[in-house]
Amino acid sequence: MKKIKLITSILLTIIIVTACNSNKEIIVFSPSGNIFAEFELKNGKPYYRIVKNNKQVIDFSRLGFDLNEKNSFNENFMIKNTTESSFDQTWEQPWGEEIFVRNHYNELTVELQEIEGKQRLLTLIFRVFDDGAGFRYVFPEQPNLTDFEITDELTEFSLSEDLHAWHITAYKGEYYENLYKKSLISKIGDTVSTPLTIETDDGQYITIHEANLADYAAMNLYPKHNSTTLKVDLTPWSTGIKVYARTPFATPWRTVILANNLNALVNSRIMLNLNEPCKIENTDWIKPSKYVGIWWEMHLEKSTWGQSEKHGANTKNVMSFIDFAAANNFQSVLVEGWNYGWDGKWSGHGEQFIFTKPYPDFDIKKITDYATKKGVKLIGHHETGGSTVNYENQMKDAFAFYKKYGIDAVKTGYVAKLLDGKELHSSQYGVRHYRKVIETAANSQIMIDNHEPVMPTGLQRTYPNLMTQEGVRGQEYDAWSRDGGNPPEHTTVLPFTRCLAGPVDFTFGTFSFINPVYPQTRVQTTLAKQLALYVVIYSPLQMASDLLENYEGNPAFEFIRIVPVDWSETIIKEGKIGDYVVTARKDKHSDDWFIGAITDENERNLRIDFSFLDKDKKYTAKIFKDASDAEWKTNPYSIVIEEQEADANTIMDLYLASGGGAAVWIKAE
Ligand code: NOJ
Repeated sequence: MKKIKLITSILLTIIIVTACNSNKEIIVFSPSGNIFAEFELKNGKPYYRIVKNNKQVIDFSRLGFDLNEKNSFNENFMIKNTTESSFDQTWEQPWGEEIFVRNHYNELTVELQEIEGKQRLLTLIFRVFDDGAGFRYVFPEQPNLTDFEITDELTEFSLSEDLHAWHITAYKGEYYENLYKKSLISKIGDTVSTPLTIETDDGQYITIHEANLADYAAMNLYPKHNSTTLKVDLTPWSTGIKVYARTPFATPWRTVILANNLNALVNSRIMLNLNEPCKIENTDWIKPSKYVGIWWEMHLEKSTWGQSEKHGANTKNVMSFIDFAAANNFQSVLVEGWNYGWDGKWSGHGEQFIFTKPYPDFDIKKITDYATKKGVKLIGHHETGGSTVNYENQMKDAFAFYKKYGIDAVKTGYVAKLLDGKELHSSQYGVRHYRKVIETAANSQIMIDNHEPVMPTGLQRTYPNLMTQEGVRGQEYDAWSRDGGNPPEHTTVLPFTRCLAGPVDFTFGTFSFINPVYPQTRVQTTLAKQLALYVVIYSPLQMASDLLENYEGNPAFEFIRIVPVDWSETIIKEGKIGDYVVTARKDKHSDDWFIGAITDENERNLRIDFSFLDKDKKYTAKIFKDASDAEWKTNPYSIVIEEQEADANTIMDLYLASGGGAAVWIKAE
């Protein structure tokens, strides 16, 4: 990274320097002074840059918009006013990877006004944290700008060096269900989604994403002229317009995490901090849970969503899942294919779904009475087939229907190339719909697990009933994807890319790896890695996806039974994106710790120190690890389960087989 002039006065957190002529240099430092963002008007055009430890990470980069018909809103500005402030508050999460989040930043507001013509106003707000920065645009209420259309957001991120980035294509795949690729920024050769994670040559990480995506289009990025400048590309409406707006209006925050290592990257809370505080007064009804469900059997084509002699969501089948859940520490049972609408073609044809009419062989009263007796809840399912109009028309009644039967969590789905036959899921149209669902669900006290979403941006801070989302190439690809399933590398990339956007409903826990219907497709892990993933990939709703019979009598299942889904602390002990990860998490409700270690296709030996344990406590570590002859392709089920005493001085050697892993339950005595 290029060295820049040393700014000595880090005691002054915010410096405003008036340079010659009308150019103004404006700098805002992070609380500890290690990072600053600088705003500059160059000949009336707004730019910013970001500097960490006196090294420029993001060079002067453009800001601004094109509005309406090529009406530029990115030049001819003067600075009307600047203000600064500081903020330091700690808030508590109802669930999460840790309990308390510190929100500590310095803020700079720059109010711009066009020098001539309509003299329209545009405000930029920068917040600089010790681990990165965020900025957003505000369009204040003003006489000469009321209703407007954004045809392009001109924001750029001009990286100072050509570094390696991990990315997925934005438009060609569906709902972010792609495998991440690594390339130099200049060689990305595509429009890609965020979070985009960049590795520096000295082991640091930069992640570009957004926070509080509300009434706006999702942000994608592409390298301009194959350079290291990433330009924003907002997902358009079918009209070509990116965003329809009316002043006063604010964009989402553009976020840049600058992390010294992978642990700092995963523990950055910039995205959550840039969302609004919780709007739900009483969150007692919002509860993380582990679930099993009528699900994998459909993906294996053993049963059907729609009516048939193989219909999965029949009363007897659901009740057997309830029995299993009650006996094995699962709080809930997901049931898909319970309502009218699945018969015939439903993907992209969601108008036929009725969310208050169960199939005749699904006796909802009997089932939910039985579940209540057993202390288990159902997770309902609303597949919309992409018809948001049909769903919105029924949504309130649909939630009320479920609530009547004590169901307070719903998995939603949007399988369709386009929403309502015309709009992209990540467009402003989609964003508006998803938010409406979360708000309506919050009012009905319903938790949501959203599939085929727009990429998450931290809305769960404001609405913690948004528990988890898909937006990932998940375990279902191991049942039927034509390319053989998820390669072993996939889950070693996710913690540092997709997972930074929020909880992931990946649905691992498969114990039988080959689908007889598509024998060329399989789970490309060892059994021990399936267990480790419960610690590595975070979600407050976590599924054990397999057929129940595959768990019966398997001692490895003990780990899934006991692993928590809510944590008070998270540490990335070691890792290399795309190669391996070792994650340690502390249970929120006990003194137990859990370790998940996973590798890609390469076997490896790891040495893990337990220095994170309480120095005054003794523990027993129960280890579920690959046997020495395990290998994902030829011998995936070979596992060793053993116990040893442990304390803060323990150093554990673990062998991870090719495609393998290890899961450790460190139980406090
Ligand atoms: C795709 C979802 O990801 C999957 O979990 C669900 O079973 C099907 N759609 C049907 O809704």
